[in-house]
Amino acid sequence: MILLGIETSCDETAAAVLVDGSVRSNIIYSQIAKHAPYGGVVPEIASRDHVRKLPGIIEEALNESGCSFEQLDGIAVTYGPGLASSLLIGYSAARALSQRLDIPLAGVHHHEGHIYSVFLGETPPVLDGAFPMMVLLVSGGDTKLVYMKAPGCYEIVGQTIDDAAGEALDKGALLLGLGYPGGPIIQKTAEGGNPQAIRFPRGLDNVGGEWKYDFDRKLCFSFSGLKTALLYYVQHNPDALKDETAKRNLIASYQEAVADALAVRVERALEQYDCVSFACAGGVSLNKVLREKLARLSEKCGLPLRLSSPKLCTDNAAMIAGAAHIKQSCGFAFEKPEDVNPNLRLENWSG
Ligand code: KG4
Repeated sequence: MILLGIETSCDETAAAVLVDGSVRSNIIYSQIAKHAPYGGVVPEIASRDHVRKLPGIIEEALNESGCSFEQLDGIAVTYGPGLASSLLIGYSAARALSQRLDIPLAGVHHHEGHIYSVFLGETPPVLDGAFPMMVLLVSGGDTKLVYMKAPGCYEIVGQTIDDAAGEALDKGALLLGLGYPGGPIIQKTAEGGNPQAIRFPRGLDNVGGEWKYDFDRKLCFSFSGLKTALLYYVQHNPDALKDETAKRNLIASYQEAVADALAVRVERALEQYDCVSFACAGGVSLNKVLREKLARLSEKCGLPLRLSSPKLCTDNAAMIAGAAHIKQSCGFAFEKPEDVNPNLRLENWSG
C-alpha cells in the first residue's frame, strides 16, 4: 500500500510517502525563520506559507519516493489538533487530491502521528511485543502520559496542568534572550554547564492545596512555576547572564529541571501501570538530557525504550501516514473527516 501523508497543523509544511509502512520520503519545510522574530508562531503567517509551499513539498515527496500520484492507494492528513487556519491548508489539499485521484482519505490525530513515529523507519513497523506501552508525549503544545494497552487504545493517565514542556523551554529561552525555538538552543547553550548548579522546581510535588483534576497528581506536570522561578532567579542574579560559566550553569540547570520533571513521572507511571515497554515522542524527545535519563530508566526497570529517529521527532508527515498505515494494518478502515478540528481529542479506535 502506497500512502501520501500531509501535515500542516502548525509551522511545518510536510509531505511523505510510505510504501507498506516503510518511509520512502519525508520532506519537511520549517517556517521557524519566519516566526522567530515574533518569538512564537503567528497563525496568519503560518497558513499563508503553507499555501505557498505545500504543492512543491508534495511533489518533492513523490519524486524522492519514486512514486507517482497515480500509484497512490490513499492519503493521510492531520485534521487536528492544531491551528485551524494551518490545518485547513493541508486538509483541503488532501481532500482535493483524494477526490481527483479517487482514493480514500484518512484523517489522523496529530498526537497519534507522534506516538506511532516510534515504530517508523526504512522497514515496515513491527508492533509485536510493544504493548501494553506507556508513552510520554512531549511536544511544543502538549505534555501527556498515555497508557496504551494495545494500538488504538489510549488512556491519558497524566498531563500538564499549565504549560507544555516544549513551551517551558521556548518561553525560558525567550526570557533569557536566546531566541526561538528554545529547546534546541537551550540544549546547545547548556553544553558543558553544571546541571546541579541551581535547584529549580520540578512542579506539583511540594505544593499543597486542593487537587481539582481527574488525573493522579503524581503523574501530572506543571511548568509555569519553573518559568517564574527562572524569571526571579535572573532578576535577583543579574550577573548570571554576563558570565559565560554562570550562564551555562543556569541554562543547564533549567534544562535539567524540565528533563527531570518528565523522567520522574515516567518512572512513577511505569511503577503504577503494567507495561512491557515505554516510549517518548514529540519534538522535546529530541533532547539529549531527556534521552539519557530515559535510557537509564530503561536499564533500571528492564523495559525497552522506543524513541523516534531525529527526523521523525518534530512535526512531519511520515508519522501521519504511519499512523494511518498502522490503523489499517490492525484491521480498521480509513475514516474521512468532514472538517478540521483544532481541539480534536484523542479517541480510541480499538479496545
Ligand atoms: O513536536 P513538535 O515539532 O511540535 C508540536 O507538535 O508541538 O515540537 C516542537 C517543540 C518545541 O517546543 C521545541 O523547542 C522542542 O520541540 N524541541 C526541543 C528540541 N528540539 C525541539 N526541545 C528540547 N530539546 C531539543 N533538542
